[in-house]
Amino acid sequence: MNRIFSGVQPTGNLHLGNYLGAIRNWVDLQGDYDCIFCIVDLHALTLPQDRELLRAHTREVTAAYLAAGIDPEKCIIFNQSAVPGHSELAWLFACITPLGWLNRMTQFKEKAGKRRDNAGLGLYAYPVLMAADILLYKATHVPVGEDQKQHLELARDIAGAFNRQFGTDYFPLPEPQILGQAARVMSLRDGTAKMSKSDASDYSRINMTDDADTIALKIRKARTDPEPLPETVEGLQGRAEADNLVGIFAALTRTSRADVLGRFGGAMFSEFKDALAAVAVDALGPIASEMQRLVAEPGYVDGVLRRGAERAGEIAHSHLSEIHRIVGLLRP
Ligand code: TYM
Repeated sequence: MNRIFSGVQPTGNLHLGNYLGAIRNWVDLQGDYDCIFCIVDLHALTLPQDRELLRAHTREVTAAYLAAGIDPEKCIIFNQSAVPGHSELAWLFACITPLGWLNRMTQFKEKAGKRRDNAGLGLYAYPVLMAADILLYKATHVPVGEDQKQHLELARDIAGAFNRQFGTDYFPLPEPQILGQAARVMSLRDGTAKMSKSDASDYSRINMTDDADTIALKIRKARTDPEPLPETVEGLQGRAEADNLVGIFAALTRTSRADVLGRFGGAMFSEFKDALAAVAVDALGPIASEMQRLVAEPGYVDGVLRRGAERAGEIAHSHLSEIHRIVGLLRP
């Protein structure tokens, strides 16, 4: 069976983009693949974290996976740092990755900002660790939001470089799966910026833990333009905020932008926003309350992670023995 690997950073403020761009697709795919879903706590450390919050967010992301419908019996759910092989393979990959490849990564440029010389080596090497996450399990498919596309191309390049350098076909070239109408959910305050965990304004995003009133308020306050909704998808061009809200509606109702405009074309945003708030609350409300219930049961959540780390660790261990042999490391 083909294998999926994907992950979310435990950096707080899990939002609708994480859900529609990633987690919900995982729930849909879990029956057809052998699935490994990770909480990538080592990636979170590429920027400073509060230690208590990091632990709380690790449990919160686990709770979100479970609440969204990922089955811990079918899938492996674990936190990255619990399987030391991730860091080890990242080192082996670091030794074969040209700096020029990393210099092209747009996410590093965004996150490092102007003070590039002060950015950490970990932030720079972030995509190498990500390649290690995926390839440690020889995953063939990686369902992610669109913002991860460049990192996945790099993971494919690293797999290819390893295979060439060591004269093997050991690693598969993992395929990105960028799925659905909301692979790139934009900020509610600015249709040209991605919805993001780190946006200073909480009104820019719908959090997976928001209650019904908060969701409705954020949607009501979402930025739009003064025109009514267009009748056709072409009419969304140049109207980033309208396009984003229509895309979110389509994703939440599992329809298309054209279907949504068939229903709301010509309507004013006030009417559309009420309908959007209702479908968002319907979709997210039950997940938020299940997350709350699970977060109050850390013993259960930790048990899921422990069992997941054992299962992931077995696969990682056996692959690493093979990788050591290929590279020429001695295991006396
Ligand atoms: P992270 O934690 O930033 O995001 C988790 C997932 O959510 C998707 N996503 C979005 N999708 C649509 N619209 C948005 N506005 C939006 N924001 C985030 C992301 O594309 C991602 O799928 N580097 C990864 C974590 C990672 C990983 C991996 C993923 C580490 N190792 C191996 C796959 C395979 C990240 O930063 O995710």
